[in-house]
Parts: sequence; structure tokens; C-alpha cells
Amino acid sequence: MPLVNAKEMLTKAKAGHYAVGQFNINNLEWTKAILLTAQELNSPVILGVSEGAGKYMCGYKTVVGMVNGMLEELKITVPVALHLDHGSYEGAKACIAAGFSSIMFDGSHYPIEENVEKTKELVATCNELGLSIEAEVGSIGGEEDGVIGAGECADPAECKMIADLGVTMLAAGIGNIHGKYPENWAGLSFDTLDAIQQLTGEMPLVLHGGTGIPADMIKKAISLGVSKINVNTECQLAFAAATREYIEAGKDLQGKGFDPRKLLAPGFQAIKDTVKEKMELFGSVDKA
Ligand code: 13P
Repeated sequence: MPLVNAKEMLTKAKAGHYAVGQFNINNLEWTKAILLTAQELNSPVILGVSEGAGKYMCGYKTVVGMVNGMLEELKITVPVALHLDHGSYEGAKACIAAGFSSIMFDGSHYPIEENVEKTKELVATCNELGLSIEAEVGSIGGEEDGVIGAGECADPAECKMIADLGVTMLAAGIGNIHGKYPENWAGLSFDTLDAIQQLTGEMPLVLHGGTGIPADMIKKAISLGVSKINVNTECQLAFAAATREYIEAGKDLQGKGFDPRKLLAPGFQAIKDTVKEKMELFGSVDKA
């Protein structure tokens, strides 16, 4: 099945009280691991691409070519959206031109008026071309690919203002952080999330920084309207740990253990296991 935008899968998720995972990709192994797991679990999935990862993979056209090729060659039939993560205005336009099916415009660092103007323009383009679009209010804490957010809680009235522009999904800061959570993390602000959902109604809400959020908080966030959860660091940690174990056990020195198809296999499996665990927790299994 060709790429789809994220609207239908997220509308269904919001109505069905589960969340679709966005898993960020970095290379062929990442992409293949996520797509195969989604297919095996009969789950919809969103592939996230940060601007840095896009550059690393030789540009957005290369990413689109790789993903489209895999959808066909791996006979993927579950709904898959290819989504720009934390896009700049210019990055969003480049991904639209390259064939992404969904974009995020992160205008959270602009004054709200400018965020509104730029979001409005991109909403019109995405509507015309049939893409879904995510906007952000209140920056997500931590650092991701050079994008640094302070982690403040979003103003629910600003969320409503941006939601009313016709975006498909809305990311709102509720104390979430990219990367590992510090020991003294205060947890998610469910009061903020509740207030945002009251004002934005049917709008699917997005929870960034999915790595390391305890299962009970994930479930509560879903019950309060979160329908898309982004996970990146956790797959990276799982991949690195499995690769480390392989090398530390000296397996790359045995026979043809240096062959990248063998060397990267444990990390590939670790990504699959992580994605499976998340899809089960988010409740998206068998929702394709
Ligand atoms: P983590 O790296 O903390 O999982 O966050 C991912 C994310 O929010 C991507 O936008």
C-alpha cells in the first residue's frame, strides 16, 4: 500500500482511545525494522524523520525513495505515514516537494502571531495536496538534533487558536522532554493536557518525548486525548546496547561476524522488540 497521510489513522485512534506510534528513522535498518514490526502486528505506523536524520540519509528524496521501495518490496499493507519531525518552514516545504505524506511545522519558537501565519500557509498547502500537518505549541523540553526546547507547558488558549487553523494533529508541551528523563522530572502535567483536550475537542493530540515515560502515564495521557506518541531515543539506546553486546562478546571476530548483515542484526532485532513493546502499550496492535 502506498504512503497515506496520518489523518484517518489518528482520527480512528482518538475515537478508539489508543495511540499510533511515531518512530523516528535513521537508516535502512531502522526503517525496515519498524515497517516489518508494524506489518507483523497489523498496526498503523508513522515514520518520523528529523531534519538532521534527513540530511544524514542523503536528503528527503532519498528517504522517500527508500520508504516507497520498502513498502512495495516488503509488501507492507498496513497504513504508513512518512512524517517530517520538528520541521522548519523551509524543511516543511522541501518535504512536501519530495513526497512526504505528512509534515510537522514546529513554529513553537516564533511569537504566536508568526507561528499562526506560517502554520496557516502550510495548512493550506497540505490541504490542497492531501498531506496531514502537525503543529506545536509550547516547546518540548530537551535537545533533539539541535532543536532545543525549554519544556514549558502549553497555554490551552493558544492550543485552541492553532487547532482552529485546521491542522490535523497538535503537539503541546505538557512537561515532556526529548531524550532520557532526569531523576528529578516532575512528570507529565495532566491538568494541562486535560485543559487542552477540553478546548480542542476532537483534535488528535501528540505526545513527544515518548522515551522513558512510565506505562501508567502513557495510558493516562491516551485517556486524555493523546493519539500519537513519538519515540526516538529508546530505539537508539536499544540498538546501541545490542550492538555493544555483540562486539563485546567478540562475535565480530568469529567467522564472518564482521559482515554488516550479521553485525547489525542484533541491533535491528532490538529495534523490532522496542517497537513491538510500544505498539502493545499504545494499543495500536490490530488497528490497521
Ligand atoms: P524521544 O527521543 O525522547 O523518544 O522523543 C522523540 C520525539 O519526540 C520525536 O519528535
